[in-house]
Amino acid sequence: MRVLVIGSGGREHALAWALHRSPSVEQVWVVPGNPGTAACGSNVPIDPNFEAVYRLCRDESIGFVVVGPENPLAAGIADFLTSRGVLVFGPTRAGARLEASKSTAKDFMARHGIPHPRYKVFERREDAVEYLSSVPGPWVIKADGLAYGKGVTIAAEMDEAVDAVGQMLSGSLHGDAGRRIVIEEFLEGIEATAMALCDGKTIFPLPMAKDHKRVYDGDEGPMTGGMGAYSPLPFVDRKLEEAVYRDVLHKTFLGLKREGIDYRGVIYAGLMLTEDGPKVLEYNVRFGDPEAQCVLPRLTGDFAGLLLACADGRLEEFISSKAVVVRDEAAVTIVLASPGYPGAYPKGLPVQGFKGTCDAEPEDVLVFHAGTRLDETGSPVTSGGRVLAVTALMPTLDEARSKAYAALERITFPGAHYRKDIGAIRM
Ligand code: GLY
Repeated sequence: MRVLVIGSGGREHALAWALHRSPSVEQVWVVPGNPGTAACGSNVPIDPNFEAVYRLCRDESIGFVVVGPENPLAAGIADFLTSRGVLVFGPTRAGARLEASKSTAKDFMARHGIPHPRYKVFERREDAVEYLSSVPGPWVIKADGLAYGKGVTIAAEMDEAVDAVGQMLSGSLHGDAGRRIVIEEFLEGIEATAMALCDGKTIFPLPMAKDHKRVYDGDEGPMTGGMGAYSPLPFVDRKLEEAVYRDVLHKTFLGLKREGIDYRGVIYAGLMLTEDGPKVLEYNVRFGDPEAQCVLPRLTGDFAGLLLACADGRLEEFISSKAVVVRDEAAVTIVLASPGYPGAYPKGLPVQGFKGTCDAEPEDVLVFHAGTRLDETGSPVTSGGRVLAVTALMPTLDEARSKAYAALERITFPGAHYRKDIGAIRM
């Protein structure tokens, strides 16, 4: 199979790595890719607009496209390519609304009895402010549209909440994405990620993971895209896992079917595990980043075949063949970030102390590129906030954690920072 990945982050490097290792794959292309994906196949530095991607598929006889990030899905790349005969892993525009509109997602949960926090949707500042004063804080305020993972404000004080509402609705905080907002109940509990693959007829749950969204140890400081992840989760027993599957993933799948959405891709549920059971905070319609860098190394077998089976509606048959198996080992992924991230950060800092990943086995330490580029001498330098993600897979979580941190400490660039407690907060 000849396969194209769209995207340029750590998640896409993990995808390209897992596809490149798959026995059914002849060649991998990545648009636009990063220095890590270049070692797994061919990076094509084109503007990933729909026409250009289609032309590349046609010219290189690529029959299968795996879409990494949400934006192209929300804009309808799956609809565009499938209507031209290219198979796509990633939902259509209608399916991608689950991530592209937080109010659409919450209304969907309400329609299908999927547990979620109480919420209300607002477009007018006066209405939102009146509502804030009628419910207890802290207040969770979300921009309705896509805001690069930064669209949520959790306000402990009323003036902070009113400020966030005003800035979002005026467009000054997240542009048009914030002109409609969702205010939802603040839930106590443990956050966790549940992902499943879907072909429109069947779902296949992936191992659960935990992402660490705040920049500092102990879940302090501003939100980031994700500073690390681990899987499996010691605090999720079989009963809880079954509840997540039954009450969240399966109900989501049934809801999509009932609404006539032929969903072929990842259903990602960002959960709060509360005393009353799992509740869905948000959906994503693609693999999490850095959850992909953590969960994909736990899958062994024909990963490309698995994604292709989702795209062409053969998931049940593929799963029965056991061509992909989840490994028992634990994985820990730690993100190394630029100085200043998630605020402003410098670029072009030389990165040293690691080798590329595409020929690495899951038993090796895996170093996934995210915000890197090669300078004029061909050496890696920083080019983004999250620079690299380091994953180790070992029989236990503690061993995976020690191995990942030992490798990470050898990688250097000026001002690099990372969390020291990934996989250590067990709750
Ligand atoms: N790790 C959270 C996300 O991918 O949105």
